[in-house]
Amino acid sequence: MAGIRFDGRVAVVTGAGGGLGRAYALLMAGRGAKVVVNDLGGTFDGGGADSTPAQKVVDEIKAAGGEAAANYDSVADWESAQKIIQTAMDHYGRIDILINNAGILRDKSLIKMEIEDYRKIMSVHLDGTFFCTKAAFPHMREQGYGRIVSTASAAGVYGNFGQTNYGAAKMGIVGLMSCVSQEGAKYSVLANTIVPSAGTRLTATVLPMEIIEKVRPEYVAPIVAWMCSEQCTVSGKIFTAGGGYFSRAAVVEGPGVFFNPDQEITVEMVVDKLDQLMKLEGGQEFASAMEQTAYALSKMNVW
Ligand code: NAI
Repeated sequence: MAGIRFDGRVAVVTGAGGGLGRAYALLMAGRGAKVVVNDLGGTFDGGGADSTPAQKVVDEIKAAGGEAAANYDSVADWESAQKIIQTAMDHYGRIDILINNAGILRDKSLIKMEIEDYRKIMSVHLDGTFFCTKAAFPHMREQGYGRIVSTASAAGVYGNFGQTNYGAAKMGIVGLMSCVSQEGAKYSVLANTIVPSAGTRLTATVLPMEIIEKVRPEYVAPIVAWMCSEQCTVSGKIFTAGGGYFSRAAVVEGPGVFFNPDQEITVEMVVDKLDQLMKLEGGQEFASAMEQTAYALSKMNVW
């Protein structure tokens, strides 16, 4: 395949002052993208603000001969999220790529979690992804082109102790992107989700330093860059990446069991078939809720 480039394309990367976002911004700027480097610059758990991280990444991109502009607004409010996208419009007149990456952690067991920990995580991750996407989408629709990559987590897709707030927000992002991919399809606006693993400030709170140093954010960036490129043609998909491993994750529905609804369907009938109902062999993915509904109803011979 010819080299993937982003000449003429404008990208907004949220939370790009460090970690994964910085790696995405540097990779795409190095391949010709004009990048808005957004970062609020607070602490890992969402306190304070600092313009230094975003500015440093902009300086790095410029020193390497690339083009970039800094933005220090928070993704977590509708007004400030609009300013992030407006930065791209003001500097470069368009936005082709949005990477929703900004994030914080407030891990606690459900028993110990304060309501504020839940709300803060939901607002940065889920609200932030929704707000930035909503602000960028009209521009992408108008120009008939867009690439949106949002960031989920294994904690949401598979669950993790002490991350009920974060897991809920991250799986919410998967649902959000599945719907945006449907709404963007006819305008060539593709929306996918990355489930990354990398040594960063966030994972330094839970992983040993020797692992943090080895599993570099740069190992995730190539698949994210592909999802942001013209060469990408898939939408509504989830990809996992970390430490040189790349894969696709999906929600799959097994072949299930079917009872004739003309007769009473009892609890016992369902329980008797649990083994068969649990099986995923021969299962399938659905491209949309409508497709899944049509499939279920086709078994009933309704459609
Ligand atoms: P990081 O802490 O290095 O980067 C996150 C950046 O987001 C920080 O620079 C921070 O200042 C910025 N940020 C936080 N709140 C913001 C707000 N309201 N508005 C704008 N910027 C804000 O952490 P990392 O690991 O690079 O995280 C990037 C994304 O990847 C996050 O969404 C995180 O939840 C997700 N993730 C990371 C994993 C990993 O293994 N590092 C695993 C799964 C998900």
